[in-house]
Amino acid sequence: MTTLAIDRIGLLVTNDPGLGEGPLGVVRDAALVLEGDRVLAVERAGAQADERIDAGGRCVIPGFVDSHTHLVFAGERGDEFAARMAGAPYRAGGIRTTTDATRAASDDALTGLARRRRDEALRGGITHLEIKSGYGLDVATEERLCAVAAQLTDDVTFLGAHVVPAEYAGRADDYVGLVCGPMLAACAPHARWIDVFCEDGAFDEEQSRAVLEAGRAAGLGLRVHGNQLGPGAGVRLAVELGAASVDHCTHLTDDDVAALAGGETVATFLPATDFSTREPYPDARRVLDAGGRVAVATNCNPGSSYTTSMAFCIALAVRDLHMTIDEALQAATLGGARALRRTDVGHLAPGARADAVVLDAPSHAHLVYRPGVPLAATTISAGRVAWSAPWS
Ligand code: NIG
Repeated sequence: MTTLAIDRIGLLVTNDPGLGEGPLGVVRDAALVLEGDRVLAVERAGAQADERIDAGGRCVIPGFVDSHTHLVFAGERGDEFAARMAGAPYRAGGIRTTTDATRAASDDALTGLARRRRDEALRGGITHLEIKSGYGLDVATEERLCAVAAQLTDDVTFLGAHVVPAEYAGRADDYVGLVCGPMLAACAPHARWIDVFCEDGAFDEEQSRAVLEAGRAAGLGLRVHGNQLGPGAGVRLAVELGAASVDHCTHLTDDDVAALAGGETVATFLPATDFSTREPYPDARRVLDAGGRVAVATNCNPGSSYTTSMAFCIALAVRDLHMTIDEALQAATLGGARALRRTDVGHLAPGARADAVVLDAPSHAHLVYRPGVPLAATTISAGRVAWSAPWS
Protein backbone atom coordinates (compact mmCIF):
# COMPACT_ATOMS: atom_id res chain seq x y z
CA MET A 1 0.00 0.00 0.00
CA THR A 2 1.20 3.51 -0.79
CA THR A 3 2.40 5.69 2.06
CA LEU A 4 1.91 9.45 2.26
CA ALA A 5 3.82 11.70 4.65
CA ILE A 6 2.53 15.09 5.71
CA ASP A 7 5.98 16.41 6.44
CA ARG A 8 7.52 19.49 8.07
CA ILE A 9 4.56 20.00 10.41
CA GLY A 10 5.36 22.82 12.83
CA LEU A 11 2.79 21.73 15.41
CA LEU A 12 0.86 18.46 15.21
CA VAL A 13 -2.18 17.88 17.45
CA THR A 14 -2.69 14.12 17.84
CA ASN A 15 -5.22 14.10 20.72
CA ASP A 16 -3.17 11.25 22.14
CA PRO A 17 -1.26 12.20 25.32
CA GLY A 18 0.89 9.10 24.79
CA LEU A 19 2.33 10.62 21.61
CA GLY A 20 3.15 14.14 22.72
CA GLU A 21 2.73 17.00 25.19
CA GLY A 22 -0.39 17.55 27.27
CA PRO A 23 -3.95 16.34 26.70
CA LEU A 24 -3.72 17.32 23.02
CA GLY A 25 -0.63 15.14 22.53
CA VAL A 26 1.19 17.94 20.70
CA VAL A 27 4.29 17.03 18.68
CA ARG A 28 6.52 19.74 17.18
CA ASP A 29 8.57 19.43 13.96
CA ALA A 30 6.66 16.32 13.08
CA ALA A 31 5.64 14.16 10.15
CA LEU A 32 2.36 12.28 9.99
CA VAL A 33 2.72 9.12 7.93
CA LEU A 34 -0.41 7.62 6.41
CA GLU A 35 -0.87 4.24 4.77
CA GLY A 36 -4.06 3.70 2.79
CA ASP A 37 -6.91 5.14 4.83
CA ARG A 38 -5.12 4.83 8.20
CA VAL A 39 -2.46 6.64 10.22
CA LEU A 40 0.72 4.60 10.13
CA ALA A 41 3.05 6.62 12.37
CA VAL A 42 3.89 9.96 13.95
CA GLU A 43 7.56 10.69 13.30
CA ARG A 44 10.11 13.49 13.34
CA ALA A 45 10.08 15.80 10.30
CA GLY A 46 11.93 14.28 7.34
CA ALA A 47 10.04 10.98 7.31
CA GLN A 48 10.37 8.63 4.32
CA ALA A 49 7.23 7.81 2.33
CA ASP A 50 6.09 7.17 -1.26
CA GLU A 51 4.39 10.55 -1.47
CA ARG A 52 4.79 13.75 0.47
CA ILE A 53 2.84 16.88 1.34
CA ASP A 54 5.00 19.71 2.65
CA ALA A 55 3.18 21.41 5.53
CA GLY A 56 5.84 24.14 5.54
CA GLY A 57 5.88 24.51 9.32
CA ARG A 58 2.10 24.86 9.61
CA CYS A 59 -0.22 23.27 12.16
CA VAL A 60 -1.98 19.93 11.51
CA ILE A 61 -4.99 18.82 13.54
CA PRO A 62 -7.32 15.80 13.45
CA GLY A 63 -10.28 16.38 11.11
CA PHE A 64 -13.27 17.87 12.89
CA VAL A 65 -15.99 15.40 13.91
CA ASP A 66 -19.37 17.11 13.62
CA SER A 67 -21.69 15.02 15.78
CA HIS A 68 -24.88 17.03 15.23
CA THR A 69 -26.19 18.13 11.82
CA HIS A 70 -29.49 18.26 9.97
CA LEU A 71 -27.94 18.42 6.47
CA VAL A 72 -30.82 16.97 4.46
CA PHE A 73 -33.45 19.62 3.83
CA ALA A 74 -34.83 21.90 1.13
CA GLY A 75 -35.46 25.64 1.30
CA GLU A 76 -34.07 28.27 3.64
CA ARG A 77 -35.40 30.59 6.34
CA GLY A 78 -33.41 33.79 5.98
CA ASP A 79 -36.47 35.93 6.68
CA GLU A 80 -37.09 34.13 9.96
CA PHE A 81 -33.46 34.70 10.92
CA ALA A 82 -33.66 38.40 10.04
CA ALA A 83 -36.83 38.78 12.14
CA ARG A 84 -35.01 37.15 15.05
CA MET A 85 -32.14 39.56 14.74
CA ALA A 86 -34.79 42.30 14.98
CA GLY A 87 -36.10 40.84 18.25
CA ALA A 88 -38.47 37.96 17.40
CA PRO A 89 -37.95 34.88 19.60
CA TYR A 90 -36.93 31.42 18.34
CA ARG A 91 -39.59 28.82 19.08
CA ALA A 92 -38.76 26.08 16.55
CA GLY A 93 -42.06 26.60 14.71
CA GLY A 94 -40.10 27.05 11.47
CA ILE A 95 -39.33 23.33 11.46
CA ARG A 96 -42.75 22.89 9.84
CA THR A 97 -41.84 25.41 7.10
CA THR A 98 -38.75 23.38 6.23
CA THR A 99 -40.82 20.19 6.41
CA ASP A 100 -43.17 21.52 3.71
CA ALA A 101 -40.25 22.40 1.42
CA THR A 102 -38.50 19.09 2.09
CA ARG A 103 -41.56 16.94 1.45
CA ALA A 104 -41.96 18.67 -1.93
CA ALA A 105 -38.33 18.05 -3.01
CA SER A 106 -37.25 15.04 -5.08
CA ASP A 107 -34.67 12.53 -3.86
CA ASP A 108 -32.20 13.85 -6.43
CA ALA A 109 -32.70 17.43 -5.28
CA LEU A 110 -32.26 16.49 -1.62
CA THR A 111 -29.16 14.44 -2.39
CA GLY A 112 -27.62 17.31 -4.36
CA LEU A 113 -28.32 19.83 -1.60
CA ALA A 114 -26.96 17.56 1.13
CA ARG A 115 -23.81 16.80 -0.89
CA ARG A 116 -23.11 20.48 -1.40
CA ARG A 117 -23.41 21.10 2.33
CA ARG A 118 -21.18 18.10 3.07
CA ASP A 119 -18.57 19.43 0.61
CA GLU A 120 -18.76 22.87 2.24
CA ALA A 121 -18.14 21.18 5.60
CA LEU A 122 -15.17 19.29 4.16
CA ARG A 123 -13.65 22.53 2.89
CA GLY A 124 -13.84 23.81 6.46
CA GLY A 125 -12.07 20.73 7.84
CA ILE A 126 -14.98 18.48 8.89
CA THR A 127 -14.02 14.94 7.94
CA HIS A 128 -16.77 13.02 9.70
CA LEU A 129 -20.35 14.00 10.38
CA GLU A 130 -23.60 12.75 11.77
CA ILE A 131 -26.76 13.55 9.82
CA LYS A 132 -30.30 13.55 11.21
CA SER A 133 -33.62 13.20 9.45
CA GLY A 134 -36.45 15.23 10.98
CA TYR A 135 -37.80 17.43 8.19
CA GLY A 136 -40.05 14.73 6.74
CA LEU A 137 -42.33 13.90 9.67
CA ASP A 138 -44.21 11.30 7.64
CA VAL A 139 -43.15 7.73 7.02
CA ALA A 140 -42.20 8.07 3.36
CA THR A 141 -40.26 11.32 3.69
CA GLU A 142 -38.43 10.35 6.87
CA GLU A 143 -37.31 7.16 5.14
CA ARG A 144 -36.16 9.17 2.10
CA LEU A 145 -34.15 11.52 4.32
CA CYS A 146 -32.47 8.65 6.15
CA ALA A 147 -31.62 6.99 2.82
CA VAL A 148 -30.11 10.22 1.45
CA ALA A 149 -28.12 10.73 4.65
CA ALA A 150 -26.83 7.15 4.49
CA GLN A 151 -25.14 7.98 1.17
CA LEU A 152 -22.97 10.51 3.01
CA THR A 153 -22.26 8.99 6.43
CA ASP A 154 -22.59 5.85 8.50
CA ASP A 155 -23.80 7.99 11.43
CA VAL A 156 -27.42 8.52 10.39
CA THR A 157 -29.90 9.54 13.07
CA PHE A 158 -33.64 8.98 12.77
CA LEU A 159 -35.36 12.10 14.18
CA GLY A 160 -39.02 11.51 13.34
CA ALA A 161 -39.71 12.96 16.81
CA HIS A 162 -38.49 16.44 15.86
CA VAL A 163 -41.87 18.20 16.25
CA VAL A 164 -45.49 17.13 15.82
CA PRO A 165 -46.44 17.83 12.18
CA ALA A 166 -49.42 20.06 11.37
CA GLU A 167 -51.65 17.14 10.37
CA TYR A 168 -51.26 15.68 13.89
CA ALA A 169 -51.94 18.98 15.73
CA GLY A 170 -53.59 18.20 19.06
CA ARG A 171 -52.81 14.47 18.62
CA ALA A 172 -49.20 14.27 19.76
CA ASP A 173 -49.60 10.81 21.29
CA ASP A 174 -50.93 9.45 18.00
CA TYR A 175 -47.90 10.91 16.25
CA VAL A 176 -45.58 9.30 18.81
CA GLY A 177 -47.32 6.01 17.99
CA LEU A 178 -46.52 6.54 14.30
CA VAL A 179 -42.89 7.38 15.09
CA CYS A 180 -42.45 4.32 17.31
CA GLY A 181 -44.25 2.01 14.88
CA PRO A 182 -44.24 2.27 11.07
CA MET A 183 -41.84 5.22 10.83
CA LEU A 184 -39.20 3.55 12.98
CA ALA A 185 -39.59 0.30 11.04
CA ALA A 186 -39.01 2.16 7.75
CA CYS A 187 -36.08 4.25 8.98
CA ALA A 188 -34.15 1.92 11.30
CA PRO A 189 -32.51 -0.04 8.44
CA HIS A 190 -30.79 3.19 7.28
CA ALA A 191 -29.89 4.52 10.73
CA ARG A 192 -27.47 3.97 13.60
CA TRP A 193 -29.17 6.35 16.05
CA ILE A 194 -32.56 7.60 17.22
CA ASP A 195 -33.07 11.13 18.56
CA VAL A 196 -35.96 13.06 20.12
CA PHE A 197 -36.52 16.79 20.74
CA CYS A 198 -37.45 16.70 24.43
CA GLU A 199 -38.70 20.24 25.02
CA ASP A 200 -41.86 22.23 25.75
CA GLY A 201 -43.62 22.55 22.40
CA ALA A 202 -42.04 19.37 21.04
CA PHE A 203 -42.16 16.12 23.08
CA ASP A 204 -42.57 15.74 26.85
CA GLU A 205 -40.59 13.37 29.05
CA GLU A 206 -43.01 10.46 28.73
CA GLN A 207 -43.27 10.77 24.96
CA SER A 208 -39.49 11.14 24.66
CA ARG A 209 -38.93 8.04 26.76
CA ALA A 210 -41.34 6.06 24.57
CA VAL A 211 -39.48 7.13 21.41
CA LEU A 212 -36.05 6.32 22.84
CA GLU A 213 -37.12 2.94 24.21
CA ALA A 214 -38.69 1.99 20.88
CA GLY A 215 -35.48 3.00 19.10
CA ARG A 216 -33.36 0.98 21.48
CA ALA A 217 -35.61 -2.06 20.97
CA ALA A 218 -35.03 -1.64 17.21
CA GLY A 219 -31.25 -1.73 17.78
CA LEU A 220 -30.52 2.00 17.56
CA GLY A 221 -28.26 4.02 19.86
CA LEU A 222 -29.79 6.97 21.69
CA ARG A 223 -29.35 10.73 21.32
CA VAL A 224 -31.46 13.55 22.76
CA HIS A 225 -32.09 17.22 21.95
CA GLY A 226 -32.47 18.59 25.47
CA ASN A 227 -32.58 21.77 27.53
CA GLN A 228 -32.37 24.03 24.48
CA LEU A 229 -35.11 26.59 25.12
CA GLY A 230 -35.48 26.18 28.87
CA PRO A 231 -34.76 23.80 31.72
CA GLY A 232 -36.41 20.40 31.27
CA ALA A 233 -36.16 16.63 31.47
CA GLY A 234 -33.88 16.10 28.46
CA VAL A 235 -30.51 15.90 30.18
CA ARG A 236 -31.75 13.72 33.02
CA LEU A 237 -33.56 11.36 30.69
CA ALA A 238 -30.56 11.06 28.38
CA VAL A 239 -28.24 10.18 31.26
CA GLU A 240 -30.74 7.77 32.81
CA LEU A 241 -31.18 5.87 29.53
CA GLY A 242 -27.45 5.90 28.76
CA ALA A 243 -27.77 8.02 25.62
CA ALA A 244 -24.49 8.64 23.79
CA SER A 245 -25.14 12.38 23.76
CA VAL A 246 -27.51 15.08 24.89
CA ASP A 247 -27.32 18.08 22.63
CA HIS A 248 -27.82 21.81 23.22
CA CYS A 249 -27.64 21.85 27.07
CA THR A 250 -28.20 25.60 26.99
CA HIS A 251 -30.26 25.66 30.22
CA LEU A 252 -28.66 23.43 32.86
CA THR A 253 -29.61 23.10 36.53
CA ASP A 254 -27.19 21.92 39.22
CA ASP A 255 -28.88 18.50 39.07
CA ASP A 256 -28.31 18.32 35.31
CA VAL A 257 -24.62 19.12 35.74
CA ALA A 258 -24.31 16.49 38.47
CA ALA A 259 -26.06 13.93 36.26
CA LEU A 260 -23.70 14.66 33.36
CA ALA A 261 -20.68 14.45 35.64
CA GLY A 262 -21.79 11.07 36.98
CA GLY A 263 -22.84 9.51 33.67
CA GLU A 264 -21.44 8.41 30.34
CA THR A 265 -23.53 10.77 28.24
CA VAL A 266 -21.62 13.48 26.38
CA ALA A 267 -22.95 17.04 26.68
CA THR A 268 -22.81 18.38 23.12
CA PHE A 269 -22.78 22.15 22.91
CA LEU A 270 -24.03 23.89 19.77
CA PRO A 271 -22.90 27.47 20.24
CA ALA A 272 -23.76 28.64 16.72
CA THR A 273 -27.37 27.87 17.66
CA ASP A 274 -27.29 30.12 20.70
CA PHE A 275 -25.67 32.76 18.47
CA SER A 276 -28.36 32.42 15.78
CA THR A 277 -31.32 32.25 18.16
CA ARG A 278 -30.06 34.87 20.60
CA GLU A 279 -30.39 32.35 23.43
CA PRO A 280 -27.96 32.68 26.32
CA TYR A 281 -24.77 30.67 25.92
CA PRO A 282 -24.54 27.45 27.95
CA ASP A 283 -22.24 27.17 30.92
CA ALA A 284 -19.84 24.63 29.48
CA ARG A 285 -17.24 25.57 32.08
CA ARG A 286 -19.48 24.22 34.83
CA VAL A 287 -19.84 20.87 33.05
CA LEU A 288 -16.10 20.62 32.39
CA ASP A 289 -15.17 21.58 35.93
CA ALA A 290 -17.58 18.96 37.28
CA GLY A 291 -15.84 16.30 35.16
CA GLY A 292 -18.48 15.91 32.42
CA ARG A 293 -17.62 14.86 28.86
CA VAL A 294 -18.23 17.51 26.24
CA ALA A 295 -18.41 17.94 22.49
CA VAL A 296 -18.90 20.95 20.21
CA ALA A 297 -20.88 20.56 16.97
CA THR A 298 -22.33 22.84 14.28
CA ASN A 299 -26.02 21.77 14.31
CA CYS A 300 -26.12 22.83 10.65
CA ASN A 301 -29.82 23.37 9.83
CA PRO A 302 -31.82 26.11 8.06
CA GLY A 303 -33.53 27.42 11.20
CA SER A 304 -31.42 27.69 14.31
CA SER A 305 -27.85 27.36 13.01
CA TYR A 306 -27.18 27.66 9.28
CA THR A 307 -23.43 27.09 9.35
CA THR A 308 -20.99 24.30 8.55
CA SER A 309 -18.12 26.18 10.17
CA MET A 310 -16.66 24.24 13.07
CA ALA A 311 -14.00 26.93 13.38
CA PHE A 312 -16.74 29.46 14.11
CA CYS A 313 -18.21 27.11 16.74
CA ILE A 314 -14.78 26.68 18.35
CA ALA A 315 -14.32 30.45 18.49
CA LEU A 316 -17.71 30.84 20.21
CA ALA A 317 -16.95 27.95 22.57
CA VAL A 318 -13.84 29.77 23.72
CA ARG A 319 -15.18 33.32 23.74
CA ASP A 320 -18.66 32.68 25.14
CA LEU A 321 -18.76 29.17 26.63
CA HIS A 322 -15.49 29.79 28.44
CA MET A 323 -13.64 26.74 27.21
CA THR A 324 -9.91 27.00 26.76
CA ILE A 325 -8.67 26.87 23.17
CA ASP A 326 -7.33 23.35 23.75
CA GLU A 327 -10.60 22.18 25.31
CA ALA A 328 -12.65 23.58 22.45
CA LEU A 329 -10.46 22.00 19.77
CA GLN A 330 -10.60 18.67 21.56
CA ALA A 331 -14.38 18.95 21.98
CA ALA A 332 -14.74 19.47 18.20
CA THR A 333 -12.60 16.45 17.35
CA LEU A 334 -12.25 13.75 20.01
CA GLY A 335 -15.36 15.00 21.83
CA GLY A 336 -17.43 14.59 18.67
CA ALA A 337 -16.04 11.09 18.21
CA ARG A 338 -17.01 10.19 21.78
CA ALA A 339 -20.49 11.62 21.26
CA LEU A 340 -20.78 9.19 18.35
CA ARG A 341 -19.12 6.38 20.33
CA ARG A 342 -16.39 6.04 17.73
CA THR A 343 -12.73 5.27 18.36
CA ASP A 344 -11.55 5.50 14.74
CA VAL A 345 -11.86 9.28 14.30
CA GLY A 346 -11.05 12.44 16.27
CA HIS A 347 -7.40 11.56 16.94
CA LEU A 348 -4.24 10.80 14.97
CA ALA A 349 -2.69 7.80 16.71
CA PRO A 350 -1.44 4.90 14.55
CA GLY A 351 -4.43 2.86 13.37
CA ALA A 352 -6.87 5.80 13.41
CA ARG A 353 -8.64 6.83 10.23
CA ALA A 354 -6.36 9.17 8.31
CA ASP A 355 -8.50 12.32 8.67
CA ALA A 356 -6.39 15.44 9.15
CA VAL A 357 -6.43 19.14 8.38
CA VAL A 358 -3.45 21.31 7.49
CA LEU A 359 -4.24 24.76 8.87
CA ASP A 360 -2.82 27.84 7.22
CA ALA A 361 -1.53 28.85 10.63
CA PRO A 362 1.32 28.02 12.98
CA SER A 363 -1.04 26.79 15.73
CA HIS A 364 -4.64 25.80 16.39
CA ALA A 365 -5.03 28.96 18.49
CA HIS A 366 -5.49 30.79 15.18
CA LEU A 367 -8.91 29.11 14.82
CA VAL A 368 -10.04 31.47 17.57
CA TYR A 369 -7.56 34.29 17.09
CA ARG A 370 -8.63 34.73 13.43
CA PRO A 371 -12.41 34.26 13.63
CA GLY A 372 -14.24 33.95 10.34
CA VAL A 373 -11.08 33.29 8.33
CA PRO A 374 -11.07 30.02 6.32
CA LEU A 375 -7.92 28.40 7.70
CA ALA A 376 -8.30 24.85 6.38
CA ALA A 377 -5.63 24.75 3.65
CA THR A 378 -5.83 21.00 2.97
CA THR A 379 -8.37 18.48 4.24
CA ILE A 380 -7.35 14.83 4.16
CA SER A 381 -10.17 12.33 4.48
CA ALA A 382 -9.45 8.60 4.87
CA GLY A 383 -5.90 9.15 3.55
CA ARG A 384 -6.87 11.14 0.43
CA VAL A 385 -6.69 14.85 -0.24
CA ALA A 386 -10.39 15.75 -0.28
CA TRP A 387 -9.84 19.49 -0.55
CA SER A 388 -6.92 21.78 -1.03
CA ALA A 389 -7.22 25.55 -1.10
CA PRO A 390 -6.03 27.12 -4.35
CA TRP A 391 -3.64 29.24 -2.29
CA SER A 392 -2.15 26.35 -0.32
O1 NIG B 1 -31.31 21.36 16.81
N1 NIG B 1 -34.07 21.97 18.19
C1 NIG B 1 -34.52 21.34 17.29
N2 NIG B 1 -34.03 21.15 16.06
C2 NIG B 1 -33.09 21.99 15.43
C3 NIG B 1 -33.73 23.22 14.88
C4 NIG B 1 -34.34 23.01 13.59
C5 NIG B 1 -35.01 24.20 12.93
O2 NIG B 1 -35.31 25.26 13.53
O3 NIG B 1 -35.27 24.00 11.75
C6 NIG B 1 -31.96 22.32 16.40
O4 NIG B 1 -31.73 23.46 16.74
